[in-house]
Amino acid sequence: MNTEIRSARMEKRSRKRLGQMFGPIAVFFRGFLEAPRMVGSVIPSSRTTIEAMLERVDWENCRLFVEYGPGVGTFCPHILDRLPADGKLLVIDTNERFVDYLKRTVRDERFHARLGSAEDVERFVRQLGHDKADFVLSGLPVSTLPEDVADRIVAATQRVLRRGGAFLTYQFRPVARDLTEAHFDRVETDFVWRNVPPCILAWGWKERGWQDSPA
Ligand SMILES: C[S@@+](CC[C@H](N)C(=O)[O-])C[C@H]1O[C@@H](n2cnc3c(N)ncnc32)[C@H](O)[C@@H]1O
Repeated sequence: MNTEIRSARMEKRSRKRLGQMFGPIAVFFRGFLEAPRMVGSVIPSSRTTIEAMLERVDWENCRLFVEYGPGVGTFCPHILDRLPADGKLLVIDTNERFVDYLKRTVRDERFHARLGSAEDVERFVRQLGHDKADFVLSGLPVSTLPEDVADRIVAATQRVLRRGGAFLTYQFRPVARDLTEAHFDRVETDFVWRNVPPCILAWGWKERGWQDSPA
């Protein structure tokens, strides 16, 4: 084979590999530069944060998992790996660039990406044919969002969750945890050092009443 053709092919292959390695980071960084207050962070969450957050989810009884602010989908493959075959993952983000990227790159029939605000979670859940969500994970930069928006999101989350479900947050400031404590029956917390920056994890549980059937 002609040396020129061979080196052009090698160059194309290494460009593709670099794109796969840095693609999501570049998309995330561009999204941050365009809307720093909405994105709130320059670096996606660490593997330690992801594993710790998802560890307490009752996956066997999870039919609808919702994620707010997925960004470029740092959590998505880990959620899909754990989700039952008949489960659904609904992700909601206000950033068009991120939603387009997710629609192009996440190939799984259980995956549903929606452009919009987490304030409208109840409408998005109904559109998927559900009344309730089992678990809701939030990657929203709560401390940089207007206070009334953050409050409306947590109140809507409390309403949309089934009993026995939980609202999961990770944030380097305690705002998300404090809001969760204001709206939920029981809150568990943890702290992860291995994240840039280190962050506070919180699980707000909507307790089961004696009259509620198991999930
Ligand atoms: C810190 S990034 C989270 C990135 C990703 N979840 C991670 O862990 O690496 C915050 C995300 O929240 C999104 N966002 C901000 N306000 C929102 C809102 N009201 N509803 C839904 N998404 C929102 C931003 O567009 C951004 O994708």
